[in-house]
Amino acid sequence: MILSLAPMEGLTGHIFRAVHAECFGALDRYYTPFLAPPHLGSGFGKRAMAELDPAENRGLDVVPQLLTNDAERFVWGAQVLADMGFREVNLNLGCPSGTVVAKGRGSGFLRDLEALDAFLEKVCAESPIPVSVKTRIGVAADEEYEQILAVYLRHPLAELIVHPRVQRDRYQGIPRQAAYGETLRRAPFPVAYNGDIFDCGDMDALLATYPATRHVMLGRGILANPALARTLRGGAPATREELERFHDKLFEAYFAEMGGNVVFRMKEWWSYARCSFANPLSVHRRVRKVRKVEEYQAAVHDIFRKEELAAAPRFTWSC
Ligand SMILES: Cc1cc2nc3c(=O)[nH]c(=O)nc-3n(C[C@H](O)[C@H](O)[C@H](O)COP(=O)(O)O)c2cc1C
Repeated sequence: MILSLAPMEGLTGHIFRAVHAECFGALDRYYTPFLAPPHLGSGFGKRAMAELDPAENRGLDVVPQLLTNDAERFVWGAQVLADMGFREVNLNLGCPSGTVVAKGRGSGFLRDLEALDAFLEKVCAESPIPVSVKTRIGVAADEEYEQILAVYLRHPLAELIVHPRVQRDRYQGIPRQAAYGETLRRAPFPVAYNGDIFDCGDMDALLATYPATRHVMLGRGILANPALARTLRGGAPATREELERFHDKLFEAYFAEMGGNVVFRMKEWWSYARCSFANPLSVHRRVRKVRKVEEYQAAVHDIFRKEELAAAPRFTWSC
């Protein structure tokens, strides 16, 4: 079974990937949060280069993800990535953000299937490296997926990762796993599942219904419980010492990159990581108001000294 880390803008970038792999072991594959492809004839900007730098991704199988509806720019970006040594490029057809969707990108591209068909025709023919896709199943209604899937089935995709929600769901509601099952049954190319796999029970249920599953992408589950992939493979849950070491290394690495802004970045991580504790609300209250690095460090010291770990850590919105 392939276990990969989901692309999550602002959360699972190169720093998170490296620190997580060091503390909890590498996952089989990692996807970068979405990047805009460079303009024709130029290279990626500084921020994207930090994400793609081979030195930052050493030892990890990283697939860059591009967000665009411009086939020429995608092919150019894929060429630049191929020259850097990447062996696959992923297309984002899932981003639900209003501004992205309004430009016909991410899940907004699913509104114009003729254009998507032509885009895939060109990029699959001209990209120097295989093209995989991460998709939602529609914009407004599940019924859209029949036609969307028909488009995918016409192209030689390297892999199709299905997050079975529609754009309007954002990240709410229950993923419609049947849409993934249908894809798995019909696609001639590899298919991966993504969405709400937060503990062993979730994985067991997926595998019981879809035993042919070969690749599961994990997102919020890993943020809430960094030992999730290990426990899915039968390993031990995270100890307090492991969590604290992971936290400290993450903090140090972000601090080196962004100085005092580290507090805001870490607070975003805590909005998921608090699920590792028995009383997530209490953890939330301790970090909620801190602004300065010293206040933050004192709050975190208290969390690791005073808060109990959850017996069964699991991401939920309410935690
Ligand atoms: C804060 C945040 C940022 C995300 N950024 C991206 C992204 O850059 N590219 C992408 O394809 N999906 C992105 N996603 C979606 C995740 O990759 C994943 O599909 C989603 O969280 C569902 O998986 P999960 O239930 O395992 O978390 C993002 C999700 C969140 C919550």
